[in-house]
Amino acid sequence: MPTARDIIESILEKPSVFRSRDKLYPEYVPAYLPHREEQLKNLATYFRPLLVEPGSISQRVLLVGSIGTGKTVTAKRFGSDFKQLARQRGINLEYVHVNCHRDRTLYLVVQEIARQLRIPIPPRGLSAQEMFHIILKYLENRDMYVILTLDEFDYFIEVAGNDAVYFLVRTYDEHSEYTKRISFIFISRSLTSLSRLDSATESYLVRNIINFKPYASRELYDILKYRSSEAFYEGTVGDDVLSYIAELVGADTGGSGNARLALEILLLAGQEADKEGAPRVTIEHVRRAFTQTNPDISVMVNDALPHLPLHELLILLAIVRTLQRSGEPYVRIGEVEAEYHHICEEYGETPRRHTQVYEYVMDLKRRSIIETRLSGKGYRGKSTLIGISVGPLDLLEKRIREIIEYKREER
Ligand SMILES: Nc1ncnc2c1ncn2[C@@H]1O[C@H](COP(=O)(O)OP(=O)(O)O)[C@@H](O)[C@H]1O
Ligand SMILES: [Mg+2]
Repeated sequence: MPTARDIIESILEKPSVFRSRDKLYPEYVPAYLPHREEQLKNLATYFRPLLVEPGSISQRVLLVGSIGTGKTVTAKRFGSDFKQLARQRGINLEYVHVNCHRDRTLYLVVQEIARQLRIPIPPRGLSAQEMFHIILKYLENRDMYVILTLDEFDYFIEVAGNDAVYFLVRTYDEHSEYTKRISFIFISRSLTSLSRLDSATESYLVRNIINFKPYASRELYDILKYRSSEAFYEGTVGDDVLSYIAELVGADTGGSGNARLALEILLLAGQEADKEGAPRVTIEHVRRAFTQTNPDISVMVNDALPHLPLHELLILLAIVRTLQRSGEPYVRIGEVEAEYHHICEEYGETPRRHTQVYEYVMDLKRRSIIETRLSGKGYRGKSTLIGISVGPLDLLEKRIREIIEYKREER
């Protein structure tokens, strides 16, 4: 019998597809940010005066985009690289990143700034405003500059309110004698949350806007390609896996364009591969991973199955089997139809005609049980391709078979 230690060791020594899984974690800030070159250039342009003429302006830039478009990672990358470049020029600049989802009041934000800059603040009795002035004085005494990012700023606007925002952004208007030592990056999901502010304050924030669009699948592919080269051993993640994830998530292919989701699916797919000791991540691992990030979809699919007519179920079974056999993300409708004929033979059913088969396939698509694409590169001729993004397929197959049996008995 294996000892406890044997069991633990066997897991520790189990081979893994991951070289360094933390490279896929959301908090990791990579050195390359494919498809965010424009945004980085814009940031550098806006903040250039801080290096050319330090103290001359307090810059304010607003980053706007939906979730997973790379706002946080771009701000952090920019902040850390800009800080190094400033220091090379003999300018003592710090980068401070505050998440307003966690720190939603002026008091908490100011306290967090002091903590990150390691500025001692008397423990009790000071208002946020007083603390902020201690920070300004501290920067003045040490000839320091700060780029302050207020991330998830929507929460700050909502909870802290207009006066708090006003206090922060208008600091140097009220004290024109001060050297301008703090510049701001605000990050927001949309411009509409700014409309809660009075128009004077709002106009202060929207002067320099940098937009972050949801990623298209080709962009996500590049991001996944690079991030996977850092996180996985060579040869464990094929391009087919990466482009499948990119298509599932890409904004131009029906997804949300959220890079965080794409990276999460990749991470989970790698974990699925490790769970079964597989040497490579497969399309099926991606299906399981996708289902974990979208539990609602698999519930919806399972709920829909009992309502499908018998032959639609037989076609779905044919799709599942063809996908399983091929190991590919998509299969051609022709292959599916051949498999359907085969299955009908097994069950002693008369197959429906081609046009009816096509109708059923379109119905499955309408119900979001399958996805279809027109074939492009890699396939001969033009044909409808069919894929299923929820997995595992063997569980889906079992469930379809049960319902088919049930429907046949019912007749
Ligand atoms: N262009 C990119 N290149 C590499 N990784 C990216 C890129 N854009 C986003 N990511 C990664 O995707 C995830 C989500 O990005 P994040 O900056 O948190 O998005 P947002 O703040 O807009 O919600 C993070 O893990 C981030 O590292
Ligand atoms: Mg963010």
